[in-house]
Amino acid sequence: MARNFIFVFILLATLTIINAIPFHKRATFFGPCPNVEDTFSVKMDPDPLISPHLITFTITGKEVSGLIIGPLASLVVTIGASTPVQPPSVFPVCNSTDCPIFSGTEYTTTITFLLDASLPPSYEIDLTIGNLNSSSPQMLFLNNQILACALTTITSS
Ligand SMILES: *[C@@H]1O[C@H](CO)[C@@H](O)[C@H](O)[C@H]1NC(C)=O
Ligand SMILES: *[C@@H]1O[C@H](CO)[C@@H](O)[C@H](O)[C@H]1NC(C)=O
Repeated sequence: MARNFIFVFILLATLTIINAIPFHKRATFFGPCPNVEDTFSVKMDPDPLISPHLITFTITGKEVSGLIIGPLASLVVTIGASTPVQPPSVFPVCNSTDCPIFSGTEYTTTITFLLDASLPPSYEIDLTIGNLNSSSPQMLFLNNQILACALTTITSS
C-alpha cells in the first residue's frame, strides 16, 4: 500500500514537472536607459512580440530623481532598429484622479496599440516618458528632458 502511494506520488510529481517546463521561458527584461535616472518595470503581452497583433504594455514605476510626471506627460513607445518600424505610439501617463505623479509615488499605466509592421531580426523597444514639444515635428520632448525611460534589445537567436 505504502509502495503504491510512493509510486503515485512520483508519477504526479513527474507530471507536474513536465507541465511546468513551458512556463520557465523568461519574460523580456527591460532595463534603464543611458543617462536617465528614472526607470520603470515593463510587462509586455504578447511576449515575445507578434506582428500584426494588438500589443499591451503595463509599466509600473516610481520617480526617484525628484522629477514630477505632470498632466501633459506622454509615454512614447518606439519599436525598431536604426529606424522605427512604424510611427511611435503616444499615450497619456497621468489620469484625472492621480495627477500629477510626484517623486516617490508609485504609478502604473497600461497601454494597447496595434503593431502591424514587419519586425527585423534584431530591434529595440523603447518606452520613454516626457512632455512632448508640440512645435517639434519629430516628437521631441521639451528641453530634451526625459522623465523616465526603459528599453530592451531583442536579438534573433
Ligand atoms: C487612475 O490610476 C489609478 C492607479 O494609478 C487607478 O487606480 C485608477 O483607477 C485610475 N483612474 C482612471 C479614471 O483611470
Ligand atoms: C520645441 O521645438 C522647437 C522646434 O524644433 C524648438 O525650436 C524649441 O526650442 C523647442 N522647445 C523646447 C522648450 O524644447
